[in-house]
Amino acid sequence: MPYYSDELIEEVRSANDIVDVISGYVRLHKKGSTHFGLCPFHNEKTPSFSVSQGKQMYYCFGCGAGGNVFTFLMQYENATFQEAMETLAGKAGIELPKQEMSGRMKQEADKRARLLEIQKAAAKYFYAQLRMEQGSVGMKYFLKRGLSQEIMRKFGLGYSNKFSDDLYQYLHKQGYEDGILKDSGLVAIDEKRGGRDKFWNRVMFPIMDANHRVIGFGGRVMGEGEPKYLNSPETMIFDKSRNLYGLNIARASKRDYILLCEGYMDVIALHQAGFDNAVASLGTAFTSGHASLLKRYTKEVYCTFDSDQAGIKAALRAIPILKEAGLTAKIVDMRPYKDPDECIGAEGAEGYQKRIENAKNSFLFEIEVLEQEYNLKDPESKTAFYNEIAKKMLGFEETVERDNYIEAVAEKYHMGFENLRKLVLHQGTKAGIIREDRQLRSGRSENKKQKKEDGMRQSQKLMLTWLIEEPKLFEMIRPYLGPEDFTEELYRQAAEAVFTQYQEGQLNPAQIVSMFQEEEQQREIAELFNARLEEITTQNEREKALKETLIRLKENSINERSRHLEPSDMEGLQKLVADKKQMQQMRQIHFSITGSDKKPKGTV
Ligand code: UTP
Ligand code: MN
Repeated sequence: MPYYSDELIEEVRSANDIVDVISGYVRLHKKGSTHFGLCPFHNEKTPSFSVSQGKQMYYCFGCGAGGNVFTFLMQYENATFQEAMETLAGKAGIELPKQEMSGRMKQEADKRARLLEIQKAAAKYFYAQLRMEQGSVGMKYFLKRGLSQEIMRKFGLGYSNKFSDDLYQYLHKQGYEDGILKDSGLVAIDEKRGGRDKFWNRVMFPIMDANHRVIGFGGRVMGEGEPKYLNSPETMIFDKSRNLYGLNIARASKRDYILLCEGYMDVIALHQAGFDNAVASLGTAFTSGHASLLKRYTKEVYCTFDSDQAGIKAALRAIPILKEAGLTAKIVDMRPYKDPDECIGAEGAEGYQKRIENAKNSFLFEIEVLEQEYNLKDPESKTAFYNEIAKKMLGFEETVERDNYIEAVAEKYHMGFENLRKLVLHQGTKAGIIREDRQLRSGRSENKKQKKEDGMRQSQKLMLTWLIEEPKLFEMIRPYLGPEDFTEELYRQAAEAVFTQYQEGQLNPAQIVSMFQEEEQQREIAELFNARLEEITTQNEREKALKETLIRLKENSINERSRHLEPSDMEGLQKLVADKKQMQQMRQIHFSITGSDKKPKGTV
C-alpha cells in the first residue's frame, strides 16, 4: 500500500533508464530505436521481448508481459510496487519519505502487516520444530514419503508438536496479544484455559501467496485420523479462492503451461521431480477466481487430478471454469495410480512426462466420461449417446473447429464423418425449437458477444498505440474523439492520461503505467500502448485503418451511451444527437497521414 505522491513516483521512474535497468537482467541488442532480447518471462528461442528507450517501456510480443521499469522489477523479482519503488530509489540515490496515510487505512495496513508477521513467525517456528528432536516423527514421515531435505526447505515444511499451546506461548512471548492471535487463525482463545493451538502433532505446509508471503497453513495428521488435512481458516490475508498452493514458485517456471493438481503432496512430489509448474487449490473446489489468477501466468492448464470418481468429477467441474477464463484445458490420466504423487513414485519423471504428452483434450475427455453412462451394445442407448455427442458439438462456433472434432470423434467411435456431421446439423436445427437447448444457444450468442467485445478492446488499444507513436495524429483526432469514448474502464483512465499529457505538451507513456500500482494493471496498460501496427504498411492502408478505427470507437461509444442514457438527461441527449451528426460527417472526411514525418516525436 504505497502512498507516494505521483511526482515522487515519477522522479524515481525517470531517474532509472529502462534500458540500463533491464540490461542488468537480460542481454539486449539494439535494432532501430528498440532493443530486443530473449523474454525472461517465458521460454523462447527467438527474441520477442522489446525494450523501447523512447517509451521507457518493455513489451513481449510473445507472452504479453509488459510495463515500465517498476513493472519489470515487480515481475522479475516478484516484488511489490513498494519494494520496486525502494529498490529504484536506492539505485538513483533518492530518499523516500516515511508514509503518511489516513487513520483507518493505516489501521488496516498495520493489521495486515502484523498478521503477515505472525504467519511468518509461525512458519519459522514449525520449520525449526521439524528439525529438532521433538519433530523427528514429522521428519521420519516426510522422509518415508520420499522428500529430500532440499524440497522440504524449498516449501518451508514444518511440524507442529504435541503440546497444545506451545505456538501460542511462543507468539505471546513475542508480544502478540490474544486479539490479533485469534484473528490469525492459528490459535483459539478459550475463556478458561487461555490460548490453544489449532495445529498440533501435524506436519505443516505453509501456504504462500504469489509473492512468497506466508498467509496460512495446511497440516496433515500423523498416520490415520480425521481430518486428514486441517487448513487455516480464511482471514484478512488468506483468501482461499484467490490463492493456489505452489504458485509462488510455478509463476516463475520456464514451462509455458501449468499443472493443476488436488493435493499438497502432489504439488511437492511434482516439483521434486522437476515439474516446477505444479499448483493445487487449497482444500477447496477450483473457482473462477483461481482461473483468472492462472490466466496471468499461462494459456494452458493440465489437470492432473486423482484417478478416482472424485477426481473425474473435479475435472468435469474445472474444465468449463478454465475455458470460461480463456484457458485451454487438458486432462492427464493417472491410472492405475491414485494421484501424481504415486505416479511419480512408480514411474519417475519420465513416465509422468509421457503422460503429459498424452494428455487428453478436454472435450474428448468429457465425451469419454459421457460414454460411461451409455451401453454401446444396446442400439437405443448407443443412439442416445451419439445424439448427446452431436448436441455437445454445437458448442463449437467455428465450422473448422467443429469439423475437426467431428472427424476425431467419428473416427474413435467408427461412425463416419458424414454421418456425425449430419447428426450435428440435425441437432442444430432442432436446437432452434427444443427448450432444453436454450442454454446451449445462449452460450453461443454469449460467445459472439465476447468476440465483439474483444474486437472493440483491440480497436481501443490500436488507437492509443497510434496516438503514442504518432503524436501528430492527436490534432487531427481531437475534434472527434475524447477519453470518454473509450468504454473499457482501465482504457478510459489511460486515455484520459494520454490526452492530458498531450495538452500539457509532454507525452510520457511510462509515467501512465505507474499511475496503476497492480502488476496486472501495469501489464494491461503496457499492452495498450503496444498494439501491433506494423501489419499495416502503405500510407493509404494506414489512413483507411485509422479512419475505420476512429469510426468504430465513436460508434461504440454512441451505442453505449444511448443504452445507458437517463430519460431526464437532456444534456446527454443533446451530446448524443450532435455526436451522431458528426459521425455522418466523419465518414466523408479524408484523414491524411503525411508520409514524410512518421517518426514519433514528443515522446520523452
Ligand atoms: P488427498 O487426500 O488426495 O491429499 O486430498 P493428498 O495430498 O494426496 O494426501 P496424502 O498426504 O498423499 O494422503 C487432496 C487435498 O484435499 C485437501 C488437501 O488440500 C489435500 O491436499 N483435503 C483433503 C483437506 O483439505 N482436508 C482433508 O481432510 C482431506
Ligand atoms: Mn496422495
